[in-house]
Amino acid sequence: TRVLSVTSECVPLIKTGGLADVAGALPGALAGHGVAMRTLLPGYRAVLAAQGDAPVVMDLGDLFGGPARIRQGALGDAVLYVLDAPYLFDRDAGPYLGADGRDWPDNPQRFAALCRAAALIARDGIGDWRPQVLHLHDWQAGLTPVYLRQLEVGDVRTLLTIHNIAFQGLAPAHMLSALHLPAHLFTPHGFEYWGRISALKAGIVFADKVSTVSPTYAEELMTPEFGMGMQGVLASRASDFAGILNGIDLDVWTPPYPDPAGKAAFREALRAEFGLPGAEGPLCVAISRLSGQKGLDLLIEALPALLEQGGQLAVLGSGDPAIEAALRAAAARHPTGVALRVGYDEALAHRMIAGGDAILVPSRFEPCGLTQLYGLRFGTLPVVSLTGGLADTVINASTAALRAGVATGLQFHPVTARALSRALVRLCALYRQPELWQRMARNAMAQPVGWDASAASYAELFYEMTTAE
Ligand code: ADP
Ligand code: GLC
Repeated sequence: TRVLSVTSECVPLIKTGGLADVAGALPGALAGHGVAMRTLLPGYRAVLAAQGDAPVVMDLGDLFGGPARIRQGALGDAVLYVLDAPYLFDRDAGPYLGADGRDWPDNPQRFAALCRAAALIARDGIGDWRPQVLHLHDWQAGLTPVYLRQLEVGDVRTLLTIHNIAFQGLAPAHMLSALHLPAHLFTPHGFEYWGRISALKAGIVFADKVSTVSPTYAEELMTPEFGMGMQGVLASRASDFAGILNGIDLDVWTPPYPDPAGKAAFREALRAEFGLPGAEGPLCVAISRLSGQKGLDLLIEALPALLEQGGQLAVLGSGDPAIEAALRAAAARHPTGVALRVGYDEALAHRMIAGGDAILVPSRFEPCGLTQLYGLRFGTLPVVSLTGGLADTVINASTAALRAGVATGLQFHPVTARALSRALVRLCALYRQPELWQRMARNAMAQPVGWDASAASYAELFYEMTTAE
């Protein structure tokens, strides 16, 4: 099956979160399953710096007020199409936010351009390659099915994958004509959302199939608690909606030891790097965007439970300045128990997963989550809230699971500081039983967290989509 993946981020070129990892891994993971996936990515400054010399293979003419072209570059062994539209994408600062930390004011046009480009590629093909399916990621790709209708492309199917419902791609109604959107679809049954345009809703309503990144999050999304207003539309698509779990790249995330006992040297190095002294309890790590979603405020509240048991915490994160300040204050209060690095650092993230005994992921909601998967692979026991992909990937150390010898981590519920505190006390108690702990760590390392199973699920779905009537 020929698939064009339409994404706003993709490793190794541009990343703000797990979407980039997933978009970057899928073409390689699917190649062995009969899917030829190519990728369409905006030509941000960082992307042009890496691929700006790639040859122009398609001229899109004027796209929302300036000239746009497609360049053909490479993503590993796969083809990468870069949407080269400098007036939209060749800028300093992030893919979504300017240097002032706010959304670029023309984000609606920028990502409408990505969708329009995808629809034009679907209609005309590039050279002798024409996709059968468009794999659309999040709101940034959500308007694509609308443009496909407008361009009367009837033979290309679409799958929208929701990585995070919190970002809904809203634009004021008066932008309808600026975005070349058909006014007759601006209704509650179309892409109108409380009086505004929602690119995410457009994708949910008009894509042939919709997926998200774990089975539990798929269920949760159809409820008011997690749907963030989209629960009704999603429920109306229930028969075309499913969860497919993310995997991780096992070549990138390989533990530097064959057995969890091999952690000792890495733990000591990590303590030294963070300026933490030796301790009786487990060295816990957290690697995260600092946003309300990730629940690090709960972790700050639950710290006493960990510290009283001789545990320690090392955090790497960046994002919300208020959460950063609260973490800084906690580290200042407990210099021998808590340490913080602010910033984005892949190499340090690797050292932390290798040296940590446990990884803490107290998210309020979590579509899939990748860091708990890194933890499993490295025998760094995940302590996670019972939600979304965290519920699907960790086997809680209940009495029964411990007795059966299958536990891989700890889950807590409800998502409160109290429940997290209790989980941290349990974690420390397990840590005092080295045999039990080692067994759990070995179980964790044996979990299949790569792409195999999920790549097969995507391949099957793409195949069905192209053969079904
Ligand atoms: P989300 O996409 O919601 O941020 P995921 O767990 O799916 O959550 O993906 C987050 C990815 O970003 C992981 O690969 C994680 O290691 C990485 N990451 C997050 N924050 C940092 C950081 N400060 N430094 C390095 N890597 C980070
Ligand atoms: C989103 C979610 C995260 C998921 C990632 C990749 O950023 O917050 O849970 O793992 O997308 O699908």
